[in-house]
Amino acid sequence: MNSVAPISSLADTLQSRLKQSVQYLNNSNQVVEDLELGINTIKRRSEGLLKFAEVYRNLNKITTPNLKNVYVRDLFETMYSLMHPTLNQKGIEMEIVLKDPELIIEVDASLIEQVLINLIVNAIEAVKEVPHPRIILTAYVSDTTMPAIKVSDNGTGISEEVMNNIFIPFFSTKKNGSGIGLSLCKQIMMLHKGKINVQSVPEQGTVFTLQF
Ligand SMILES: Nc1ncnc2c1ncn2[C@@H]1O[C@H](COP(=O)(O)OP(=O)(O)OP(=O)(O)O)[C@@H](O)[C@H]1O
Ligand SMILES: [Mg+2]
Repeated sequence: MNSVAPISSLADTLQSRLKQSVQYLNNSNQVVEDLELGINTIKRRSEGLLKFAEVYRNLNKITTPNLKNVYVRDLFETMYSLMHPTLNQKGIEMEIVLKDPELIIEVDASLIEQVLINLIVNAIEAVKEVPHPRIILTAYVSDTTMPAIKVSDNGTGISEEVMNNIFIPFFSTKKNGSGIGLSLCKQIMMLHKGKINVQSVPEQGTVFTLQF
């Protein structure tokens, strides 16, 4: 964090210097726009790095998550109320399938909410351009008697090549992505001694499974 903070503030200073001196510059070949774009990128990415470092630092402080018995239905309800305005606005259908409304998992609710938000946001981004976009939240107890939560989407899917990298910090295929979401999810699941898995078929969709 110490080494990134000055980059971010330097980019800030350069940006305002550029604004002040723009009238004196010869803007042939769109030099000024290029500079603006470059400085802006440095600024955005260094701010992203700072945010990432801060979240990671806070996460690393949590050596033992604050485990409590939590109803999965409560987690799903929180997700629904948080996400439904966005989903409505984007015309995405969200289905919740919970056969056993009494299903309980022992987790740190605020951390697991963070995981679900990241997965749902990824799903929203993945279904952006498909017809009948749809996201499904499911929870059940698997054969191994481990409770599991699944977040499924009928979006773009993930190619094999991309699949190898998705949990690596900063890996992103998105223009404005930070590549933080899934590495945080993995970190949080590790804190819970749980697992996160993914199955995906390109052009059909993706399923992320959390096992507790
Ligand atoms: N549901 C999904 N469908 C298709 N691709 C996905 C899905 N979830 C993740 N990915 C791929 O995994 C990459 C990494 O995801 P991750 O959430 O870590 O970062 P990001 O979404 O790109 O950026 P950030 O979450 O930090 O804003 C994405 O860029 C995307 O290529
Ligand atoms: Mg993401």
